[in-house]
Amino acid sequence: MKRFITSPKKSWTAILVVICGLSTAWASELDLIPKPLRVEESSGHFLLTSQATIGYDAALEEQAKYLQQILSQSTGWDLALKADARKTTIRLELNPDKTGKPEGYRLTVTPKTVTVTGEDKGGVFYGIQTLLQLFPAEIYGDRRRPDVEWAAPAVTIHDAPNRPWRGMMLDVARYFYDKEFVKKYIDMMAMYKLNKLQLHLIDDSGWRLEIKKYPRLTEVGAWAGPDHKRLGGYYTQEDIKELIEYAQVRNVEIIPEIEFPAHILSAIVAYPWLSCTGLQHEMPTQHFISKDLLCVGKESSIRFLSDILDETVALFPSPYINIGGDEAVYTRWESCPHCQAVVKREGLEKASDLQGYLTNVVAEMMRKKNRTVVGWEEILLRGKVNTPVVGVFWHNVADTIEATRTGHRAILTPATHMYFDFPESSTPGEVKGATWMPPISVEKCYGMEINDYSPESTVIGVQGCFWSDQFIHGTVLQEIDYLDENRSENYAEYFTFPRLLALSEVAWCPQAARNYSDFSHRLSHHFARLDAKGCHYRVPEPHIEKMEATTDGSLKFTLQPAVAHADIRYTTDGSYPTIHSPLYTAPVTVSDKSDFKAITVATDRHYSLPIYFAPDYSAYAAYGKFTTEWKPLTVQTQNASWRFECTGKISGNGNYAISFIPTKGNNSLHLGKLKLYKRDELLAEVSEPAAADSDTTATVYRFRVDEFEAGTPFFIEVEAWGKGGNDTSGLVFILKESE
Ligand code: ACM
Ligand code: ZN
Repeated sequence: MKRFITSPKKSWTAILVVICGLSTAWASELDLIPKPLRVEESSGHFLLTSQATIGYDAALEEQAKYLQQILSQSTGWDLALKADARKTTIRLELNPDKTGKPEGYRLTVTPKTVTVTGEDKGGVFYGIQTLLQLFPAEIYGDRRRPDVEWAAPAVTIHDAPNRPWRGMMLDVARYFYDKEFVKKYIDMMAMYKLNKLQLHLIDDSGWRLEIKKYPRLTEVGAWAGPDHKRLGGYYTQEDIKELIEYAQVRNVEIIPEIEFPAHILSAIVAYPWLSCTGLQHEMPTQHFISKDLLCVGKESSIRFLSDILDETVALFPSPYINIGGDEAVYTRWESCPHCQAVVKREGLEKASDLQGYLTNVVAEMMRKKNRTVVGWEEILLRGKVNTPVVGVFWHNVADTIEATRTGHRAILTPATHMYFDFPESSTPGEVKGATWMPPISVEKCYGMEINDYSPESTVIGVQGCFWSDQFIHGTVLQEIDYLDENRSENYAEYFTFPRLLALSEVAWCPQAARNYSDFSHRLSHHFARLDAKGCHYRVPEPHIEKMEATTDGSLKFTLQPAVAHADIRYTTDGSYPTIHSPLYTAPVTVSDKSDFKAITVATDRHYSLPIYFAPDYSAYAAYGKFTTEWKPLTVQTQNASWRFECTGKISGNGNYAISFIPTKGNNSLHLGKLKLYKRDELLAEVSEPAAADSDTTATVYRFRVDEFEAGTPFFIEVEAWGKGGNDTSGLVFILKESE
């Protein structure tokens, strides 16, 4: 990436820099994320030198050491620390009067000194983060950069978060991210002032927390696959203590998620007596949602929960314990005599009311230990819950109103905006992710509506979620060179960034202060910061500033880089641009908009997908969802079978029609037997199309799906070849006709 000095305001320093022979890697001024409440700019710059000293109030030693260590990595200077905030160059202070909001701070940068005054330790930490954003991006690197001038513009900033809960959930159960990766994730959250990390420690495919009383949970439940290629892992209690300490310095609280009554197969494999049936299962090696539940009716399983939660509470200082609670199907409880006995004893109406009963039992257990139960929205929506809890709402944000009216609190993580396991776009070539909803662009995430916060509000904050079921046990879904041989950690970063920066601003700023075009300009300057942290973010496509119709019917495109100072390369023949395609320097005119493609080149190895205009299939709306297409180059001329993915087009159990519609060419496509697979499992087989094979009309097959499973890939395999040649093109659509 190249950097230039573009602002006249900085020109005197540019001259100085040239004289001193230093590079000109300036931070673009005040491109702060999240946007602070109030900023007053003054003149001049603070220049950090090896002689600078860091002074701190007695309680702030950890924060001072943190700042010293960050600055030392990139500057190479071990700045002196002084346990006294007076007369030092950089001063870290606590506001003794506590006049502001929790986690608030004031940052004053003058040409001589920097003062951070925090409302509490969290506020001081955030003042430090804002200061780091004023320095050049290289400040975040772990490599010494003697070529960089460490200057920050003079400014006074008053800032505080709008909401107390600014969270991320990381699913370490479906894929085990090691301790070092979790630390990196915490670092990146802290850079953007997120303060709660929900660790999804347990799911069907893995138990990731050492529990001393039940060693088989991790001896058995943390691993899958045969001995010679065991997959998985877990955190020892010592690992957890290390993570908690690491996070605490960064004002991040780790909330353990101990998931039940569903998504707990890993525990049931280790201890089969936990389930209603008591049957022995195996650890799944693919994404799988088990119907087995923790049996609520057996005293032994309630004792198990109590023991597990005792060890969890002893380990995690957070006042919150998350008990999961999502996606239970209640068939096992319906047919279990132990569970049915509780339904009767408690005067409940149906098996699903047992979930509310269980939430009450556990919320009371936790209340006695001064902890508040948090869980997915289901903990509040299945039967009455008396002890106040916090629901994490992922479906229907309207449910929060009912929940909070009955004395509970809410955290918003609407899957439509805050589930970062969905891809950002549907451009061909986009990394595959979850498919049960449309993609979530940065703009969509940023646009999440949230009513303005008042201290009385029961909506305590916002959270993003990164689920790992698409990466389970390193399943290869796709290969992208840049993401380094399919390492799941890199994919997690690709999916999380830059959307986490949008989340940061949604959670930190009042809704009225949010403005997407202002945000996206500031965002363009943050990719250099993510580069310095070694983050494998998704490079955004160039922005289309203008698309104008010209008098001869052509279209003129004016573009803006979405990554500051990055090149834009483009093509006008419909092909995907490469790093060697023409460089964009002025507006480009094309006759058909689908022929224009342009990419952001952050580095030679790290570039974006093209700006992409999805073809308009509205004329085919009656045939359902576009699934794939065939073209001469992809068509064989004899006895061939064609396999393509249709994940996301199969959206649940029901009756489906798949239509093959020819659009061009002198030959036609012969279509024979068709099979539908759920991963490798044959679900349906149709020996002949329902409609006649003809050159002009759709060829239609009908089939039924009874074993739908969310998050599992589906494929069609069909006998298909060109009759008499391969000069044929066409489109394939899938329609759900009925339940
Ligand atoms: C969830 O997405 N199952 C909470
Ligand atoms: Zn039972």
